[in-house]
Amino acid sequence: MYLTKDEERILNGEFGETKRKAMEILVALGDIYGAERLIPVTSAHVSGISYYNIGDEGLEFLEDFLKEGRVAVKTTINPGALDLMRWRELGFDEDLFRKQLNIVELLSKAGVEPIPTCTPYYIGNKPSKREHVAWAESSAVTYANSVLGAYSNRESGISALASAMIGKTPCYGLHLDENRAPQITVKVLVEKERLDYGALGYAVSKKVDNKIPYVVGLKGASDDDLRYFSASLSTYSAISLFYYEWGPWANVEPPKDGVEVELSDLKSAYEYLSDEGKEVDLVWVGCPHASIEEVRTVAMRLEGHKLAAELWITTSRAVKNISDRMGYTKAIEKTGGKVLCDMCVASSPLKGRFKVVAVNSAKACYYARGLNKFNVKFGDLNKCINAAVRGEWVD
Ligand code: F3S
Repeated sequence: MYLTKDEERILNGEFGETKRKAMEILVALGDIYGAERLIPVTSAHVSGISYYNIGDEGLEFLEDFLKEGRVAVKTTINPGALDLMRWRELGFDEDLFRKQLNIVELLSKAGVEPIPTCTPYYIGNKPSKREHVAWAESSAVTYANSVLGAYSNRESGISALASAMIGKTPCYGLHLDENRAPQITVKVLVEKERLDYGALGYAVSKKVDNKIPYVVGLKGASDDDLRYFSASLSTYSAISLFYYEWGPWANVEPPKDGVEVELSDLKSAYEYLSDEGKEVDLVWVGCPHASIEEVRTVAMRLEGHKLAAELWITTSRAVKNISDRMGYTKAIEKTGGKVLCDMCVASSPLKGRFKVVAVNSAKACYYARGLNKFNVKFGDLNKCINAAVRGEWVD
């Protein structure tokens, strides 16, 4: 890969050890993927910061890597292992808290925004159309490419951190226009009222064989719908970009080759995403982290109820601050629900704490089963709220 004189000097260690190592990572990546050069990015989003996931080895790596230097561009981080303010009340142990705090502080000292969230676009890291960024976290990458119109590969936590330090990324994959063309048209033949975007993401992933889809029939989808669709599609496939008629790439023509998604495909998705049984002991909303609209919807729908099951809504601390000010947090917590921050279903140790978790996210379903070994019930927000109120699932 071609390097400019300044990039060579970074690689030679003239700007310190952290930048040298970061450049080494980017050059290795560029060589593997055949990138011709590095290109500037306007922001980075780093995953893999949960102590529960990365352990002492990961913590030691970060301590060493972040000894010196600061990030060169706006950088945000994914959720960690626990709510940094309510960990004790939630039953997490102090050692986990201290180590998680240590990770966030290390990153914060390097200039990273210390607000762990997988929806960085709700806390000010929101690239414009055609901006190149280096983001990890598949749901956020897919949302950024498809809904915001940014250009990002699906980075790992380490490559995103290296890009944050240098302010550049190797130019390959989805940074190149020729790799971004839609490859298959997906016609959604399901009425809007019966459409669940998490289930749809799963159904589309099964039909397109990792080709970039142009999805026709998403008219009327809300920003929350597109967020859940992005998360689901990127969990069950390697796809990090999709097109839709009224998205940022509205002038792009849908490909001639196509497939259809019918109600029966969504029913199969529901069957796959939901386990047997009725009883629910935890309802988890906010994967990806909830928007303020979603928090408000939950608050409104819970009015006048008392909950029979635990209800956790995970969001960023920035969104929770707005929710606090608007009175939504109080309204939710009055019913027994909790609005939580900094953590997520894929990065928090909850194994054995719950048996059946109801989720409105196909991605949460994947991790609740895989990481925490829960049985899951999957359905839309209304069904999940119903389950929290009744303590049981009603189809
Ligand atoms: Fe976010 Fe965790 Fe879900 S990172 S997308 S809440 S699995």
